[in-house]
Amino acid sequence: MGDYRFLKACRREPVDVTPIWIMRQAGRYLPEYQKIRGKNSFLTLCKTPELAAEVTIQPVERLGVDAAILFSDILIPVEAMGVPLDFHDGKGPILGKEIRGQADVDALSVPDPTDKVPFVMETIRILRKAFQGKVPLIGFSGAPFTLCSYIVEGGTSRNFIKLKTLMYQAPEVYRSLMTKITKTVIAYLNAQIEAGAQAVQIFDTWAGILTPGDYEEYALPYTRQVVAGLSRGNTPVIHFANDCATILSAIRTLGVDVIAVDWRIPLDVAAIVVGQGVAIQGNMDPTMLFHPPEKIDDCVRDVLRRGESAASHIFNLGHGILPPTNPDHAIAMVEAVHRFGRKGMAVPR
Ligand code: CP3
Repeated sequence: MGDYRFLKACRREPVDVTPIWIMRQAGRYLPEYQKIRGKNSFLTLCKTPELAAEVTIQPVERLGVDAAILFSDILIPVEAMGVPLDFHDGKGPILGKEIRGQADVDALSVPDPTDKVPFVMETIRILRKAFQGKVPLIGFSGAPFTLCSYIVEGGTSRNFIKLKTLMYQAPEVYRSLMTKITKTVIAYLNAQIEAGAQAVQIFDTWAGILTPGDYEEYALPYTRQVVAGLSRGNTPVIHFANDCATILSAIRTLGVDVIAVDWRIPLDVAAIVVGQGVAIQGNMDPTMLFHPPEKIDDCVRDVLRRGESAASHIFNLGHGILPPTNPDHAIAMVEAVHRFGRKGMAVPR
């Protein structure tokens, strides 16, 4: 099924129109999500294939996006490594395992995904059946550095002091933890591809908090191992890092198919940095959806125009859609991309 415009754009092949999907497209801004979420905890949704599949499908039906992304969370495989995980409303994830030394790393496992998180693969299989021929399905994982930051900080952080202290004062413990996470991520993504994910996105949400030098020393080598370890076939690999402008040239060396960028760097500038050998995904500022709907066309057209500098462009927001967003504004964005998007994209080279 190489016919979907999203997969074609990932491979820099000509498309009928610029494809669009939205990070966090399934979620709290949708009343139909709230309805199911009102009866179930977030983790129950993630771990019950029928429910996870249902909320994955919701934005595809309501918004008319060109791809679906598996409903899950980047922390699901972390829990399977042996780190207790909980979500408290309004506070984000809480992880209950301190990493004080090598013994704490040794206590973690590299889980077999088919054994420890079978519900993820089952959700993928249900979705592939439900979507046949309609939209392709994207699987995903957190990148090792971002997963490591959640484990060491115990949740979301502001200055990442615990993580930096481990990196700088106990580099061998940090590296052994990163190696375990890297193996987990490789097995997890390969299991998703095996189950039917047609593209995979690696989320390195926190990579941008590092200096470019630290990024290359402490994060990039592990993401490189992940990319090298995927039994890809021709499954496109997308890399997203938030706040990525200063590390974009390093990300380029990963050899992924698509580089997803946040909104702080204009796409035409990003295209100069990454060159014509890779597709670019992004990058409308999620707060642009708080414009009146008639202004959204202009916001979309600006991103599209800049995206023309890329070898191939997949439209997305520069980070996840925000919970207070009006779904009608998201629909206006999708329609504008399909109305004004590049038609008959040629592959320059
Ligand atoms: O994009 C999608 O629609 C697929 C589902 C998805 C979720 N999380 C659902 C979710 C994906 C791809 C993620 C990835 C994820 N999870 C990331 C990387 C992407 C990014 O945003 O940078 C990160 C950092 C996490 C960790 C995480 N999970 C955070 C920080 C939060 C927010 C906590 C909060 O309350 O705002 C979550 C929870 C989460 N993940 C929700 C959803 C729909 C909200 C849970 C709810 O319904 O209460």
